[in-house]
Amino acid sequence: RRPIPTTVTPAPPPHVLMFPLPGQGHVTTMLNLAELLCLSNLRVTFLNSDHNHHRLLRFTTVQSRFAIYHQLFSLQSISDGLPSDHPRSGERILDLFQSMSTITRDLFRDLLPSIRPPIDCLISDGALQFPLEVAAEFGIPVVHFRTIGACCFWTYFCIPDMIEAGELPIRGEEDMERLITTVPGTKEFLRCRDLPSFCRSPDLSHPSLQALASATQQSTKACALILNTFEGLEGPILTQIAAHCPKTYTIGPIHEHLRSKLTLQPSSSSSSLWEEDRSCLEWLDRHPPKSVLYVNFGSIAVMTSEDLIEIWHGLVNSKQRFLLVMRQGSVAELGSNTNDTITFPEELVKGVRGEEYMVVSGWAPQKEVLDHGAVGGFLTHSGWNSTLETIVAGVPMICLPYFADQQVNSRFTSEVWKLGLDIKDACTRKVVERMVVELMVERKEDFATSAAKMAELARSSVGFGGSSRQNLEALIEDIRSMKS
Ligand code: UDX
Repeated sequence: RRPIPTTVTPAPPPHVLMFPLPGQGHVTTMLNLAELLCLSNLRVTFLNSDHNHHRLLRFTTVQSRFAIYHQLFSLQSISDGLPSDHPRSGERILDLFQSMSTITRDLFRDLLPSIRPPIDCLISDGALQFPLEVAAEFGIPVVHFRTIGACCFWTYFCIPDMIEAGELPIRGEEDMERLITTVPGTKEFLRCRDLPSFCRSPDLSHPSLQALASATQQSTKACALILNTFEGLEGPILTQIAAHCPKTYTIGPIHEHLRSKLTLQPSSSSSSLWEEDRSCLEWLDRHPPKSVLYVNFGSIAVMTSEDLIEIWHGLVNSKQRFLLVMRQGSVAELGSNTNDTITFPEELVKGVRGEEYMVVSGWAPQKEVLDHGAVGGFLTHSGWNSTLETIVAGVPMICLPYFADQQVNSRFTSEVWKLGLDIKDACTRKVVERMVVELMVERKEDFATSAAKMAELARSSVGFGGSSRQNLEALIEDIRSMKS
């Protein structure tokens, strides 16, 4: 007798829960990874804070972006424990860690076992400690995702060694130039000044310092670690990390990875939590190649109005064209109401002609701005996403870090990768002017050459046979093997 033909039903895909820290840089990168996973036929539930969930639905086309993956993608949300009018920026960002570790933790414990189909793998933001602990209660494997660079991850990782060796605390301003010796791979150039901002606290029991150090050490207990970087940029530091976290998948630059796989319009892959003001792109169209300095300080930094005035004078005195983007709430004294627009003090606007500068009081489509041919430099706060986006665009940087990982990123950008200049702790009009002239005029060619080389390395890492592409494939295989 002939065998009766059987129809083989394909096995359901593994179900991954992704849980970012509720910040722009974290949500953007994790959403991009979510899309890469859906492209490989993995099922993803993406867990945002309620606060960000509403903003994402309001300001982006996220639902139509993911509609092509049908049932493979869904959004869920959970409270971050803060009232809706909390600024969630500047120093007050620390309230978020506090409220999440208590209120959100309990909600997450109720939610996790109720998700259907059951979760096979949790990819959680390694800056949050409780998801790994809660998932362990339900036997769910956890992969940590850190949205910072390897350079800062490694520095956070070494905080206990720095304390044990007596290299922390830092003993005041006169101690800031001292070289740190207990962060292997950085002995020649990492000064106290370049350590993450929380290391500046004279109090070693400071909750932020302790939380960051222990969250980073906790990644050794996760099944694997994902970093948004690439070997051509951070190879030596990645070797150090691999000795402690052997399964580290470096799959960046993730946004470039996605771009190489999709032919989407950049605007339709936006995950901005603010409404984008696209008028600056038309303004850029009117200017010659590489003639405009783009100025933007990201999603969390809050500066003083004195700093802003110094920056403004420095920009104007440099006589270079500039595009300054100021998020609502990004200047302490100007209020944080997201409906307010910034009215610059008269002192800030007199003396420059309209065609030489543009101010956006709001939020710009940054990746498109960086890719615009008229942009020749970026004065940045050195957030990790901004750093990577600028590297991919082949644009040199002036770094003016505010807090957290930005101090480390700016040192690597200037000293190790030679992709720009570091203003750190010296925000005066004279220094800003000098740096702008150096970057946009005097050393323009040198920086253009090093930026173009690194951009090429970034692109090839996600191209055919590139390390980040291979690592992404290995990560996906690893997740498939977790299917229960
Ligand atoms: C901070 C940290 O410094 C960062 O390293 C960490 O990983 C997350 O928290 P943030 O201020 O959000 O970051 O900066 P960054 O990491 O650079 O992310 C900002 C994102 O917002 C970038 O993707 C950038 O393109 C986008 N952006 C910013 C816009 O699209 N428009 C803007 O006007 C400003």
